Amino acid sequence: MQSSKDAIYSQPQQVSDFRFDDTVAEVFPDMIQRSVPGYNTIVDAIGQLAGRYATNNSNIYDLGCSLGAVSLAAAKYVVADNCSIIAIDNSEAMAQRCARHVKAYKANTPIKVICDDLQNIDIENASIVVMNFTLQFIEPALRDQIIQTIYDGLAPGGIFILSEKLRHVSEQGNELLIDLHHEFKRRNGYSELEISQKRESIENILRAETFEAHQTRLRNAGFDDVVLWFQCFNFASIVAIKN
Ligand SMILES: C[S@@+](CC[C@H](N)C(=O)[O-])C[C@H]1O[C@@H](n2cnc3c(N)ncnc32)[C@H](O)[C@@H]1O
Repeated sequence: MQSSKDAIYSQPQQVSDFRFDDTVAEVFPDMIQRSVPGYNTIVDAIGQLAGRYATNNSNIYDLGCSLGAVSLAAAKYVVADNCSIIAIDNSEAMAQRCARHVKAYKANTPIKVICDDLQNIDIENASIVVMNFTLQFIEPALRDQIIQTIYDGLAPGGIFILSEKLRHVSEQGNELLIDLHHEFKRRNGYSELEISQKRESIENILRAETFEAHQTRLRNAGFDDVVLWFQCFNFASIVAIKN
């Protein structure tokens, strides 16, 4: 995907809460690649997992799809017959651009883009549900119910892929991972000002939990296996399996 360079926090400013608006959508591919360690690897591997777990006549959900990277990766790898990919985002700026990208890409597996809150979507007959760095932006009190709905909508043998920024259990470990992440951003060309203003803007809306908290929630919802398949610094991806 073509993308303009992210310079949103390059000048001193009165920092307000981060929003997935037009300004962010315009630079999103550059922003996420320079901010999330392993983002491209994660997206491609999710595509591969989709290829492996998609079953004939089933649905694949991409919740919080942004510009559709996960949906497009899934479409590239899925070979099962008669699957549908459903991509949902409640940001109009994201969903509109996502629909344009999807239209430009001739996928064998159809991708339907919906602009709505993911909580309004019925998850049914799913072989795969993905939340790639989305749950972290949802009110913590709502998370148990969302995960339960996903579990209930998955067919046996289905998987839920959850990527999140994590908080480490110990303060010392957490500080170390945050430092390593900031160094990753510096090496990708972000200045100290950009790093600190972005942090200030996002800290009220991105509520990170520990791996253990995610594991407990997934287990409580009924998932039989919870596999941490990727981690770099404080960014991780989990696959939860429903047998
Ligand atoms: C970090 S981005 C996700 C990145 C994307 N999954 C990818 O792989 O490129 C988080 C997205 O979740 C969306 N989002 C946040 N809360 C949502 C909700 N309640 N319903 C639907 N989308 C939501 C945001 O608009 C944003 O586009």
